[in-house]
Amino acid sequence: MDVTGHAFVIGGSGIGKACALAFAKYGSRRIVVADINLEAAEAAVAACRDVALDATFHAEAIAIDVTAEESVKAAIARAQEVLGRIDYCVNSAGVAVRTACEVAEANVDEFDAMLRVNVAGPFLVTRAMSAVMKSQSPNPVDPSSQSRGVTRGAIVNLGSASSFAATPRMIQYTTAKHAVAGLTKNAALDNAAYGIRVNSVCPSWVDTPMVRQAMVDVPNLRDMIETSVPLGRIALAEEVADALARHITGHNDEGKSVFLSSDNGDHYRIMGEKQAVANILYSTRETPVDLNDNVDIEKAKSQEPPLHYHNGTVVRMIDFAPDVESPMHRAVSLDYGIVVEGTFKLILDSGEERIMHQGDVSIQRATAHKWHNISGNGTQPGRMMWILLDCKDVYVKGKKMEGYLGELTQYYEGREP
Ligand SMILES: NC(=O)c1ccc[n+]([C@@H]2O[C@H](COP(=O)([O-])OP(=O)(O)OC[C@H]3O[C@@H](n4cnc5c(N)ncnc54)[C@H](O)[C@@H]3O)[C@@H](O)[C@H]2O)c1
Repeated sequence: MDVTGHAFVIGGSGIGKACALAFAKYGSRRIVVADINLEAAEAAVAACRDVALDATFHAEAIAIDVTAEESVKAAIARAQEVLGRIDYCVNSAGVAVRTACEVAEANVDEFDAMLRVNVAGPFLVTRAMSAVMKSQSPNPVDPSSQSRGVTRGAIVNLGSASSFAATPRMIQYTTAKHAVAGLTKNAALDNAAYGIRVNSVCPSWVDTPMVRQAMVDVPNLRDMIETSVPLGRIALAEEVADALARHITGHNDEGKSVFLSSDNGDHYRIMGEKQAVANILYSTRETPVDLNDNVDIEKAKSQEPPLHYHNGTVVRMIDFAPDVESPMHRAVSLDYGIVVEGTFKLILDSGEERIMHQGDVSIQRATAHKWHNISGNGTQPGRMMWILLDCKDVYVKGKKMEGYLGELTQYYEGREP
């Protein structure tokens, strides 16, 4: 994970603190942590100093009230003084439900107050940060991959599973988090032309001071979390800060095994109307593969592969938006497909289908098929990984099974087979 730039994190507790620690641990050189509770921001900064990877690491804590435009402006101006360029902004300030009621009895004051912190807050911060980032110079996203373009910065707003689904007696939180999804989408659209990415991370229940307080305020919340979360447990804050990591190993001059690089994969590609993102984790162009002088690494990085390589392999991770269905297609290859997150339906051209859950594996032997992401009944994103191996031509009763990609052709055509 390359996060060696400068980070502005709002939220010195819970998820915000976990993000600040992850930035420090993975090499960020400068961090500002801001919170309405300055002590929380200071504690997060002290913890960051303890784990920072960069020898010149510098961090500072400041106060901010995300509901007040002047306070947001002043905090961002101070962050600019400390950081110079701001590469990443994480918006993790927030408040939880205090009184859980059905809509007919909902507390109007609490509804207003929650929208102020959880919606107007991210709006004011995203607005001010977008203006700052627009004025910054563009840097390559990944100097080794021109196809990933340039960036002037990245903003992350904390959404929630409540950005997609409703929870009984929590109308104020569901409304606020649906709004965060909307403001993030609109800001992402407005900022795309400037190379500023705006995303929302949407965790389910996470063990933070906010949720521990909510467990005190809302009767039976702990039981509800344990029964509604498929893993049967609340998530840890550091699990939200984690991103997909790829570690490539090799040898040093003494023949000892070492990590050659740790990053997030190569050749990202958005498919459909922003319905899926493909990430190539590795590809090889021959079997057996030549690992000498790391030529395979050069080859893997140099070019985005076709669907699969003749005689080679491709490892591809695809993140699907909620309820997305791929076109029917046949890859003439042996595909091992693994559900990493969520629930998928595998539909064959005969009409046969199977539901696949996390950890389930499909071994597709050049069969025509499509995928449907049905995670959370079509309300949640899902992730699958495929390892594609070459195969000989396939015949059924003497008839050759031809490959076809349908609407997927546009994403693979013209690439070296
Ligand atoms: N914990 C969960 O289960 C969970 C799940 C999904 C989403 N989230 C979201 O993640 C974000 C962070 O939550 P957390 O669980 O880490 O909570 P937390 O209480 O640990 O941290 C929230 C921080 O926001 C600060 N804050 C509150 N009002 C503020 C204001 N007006 N200005 C500036 N700072 C303010 C608080 O002082 C606190 O330090 C929130 O947006 C929350 O809705 C949390």
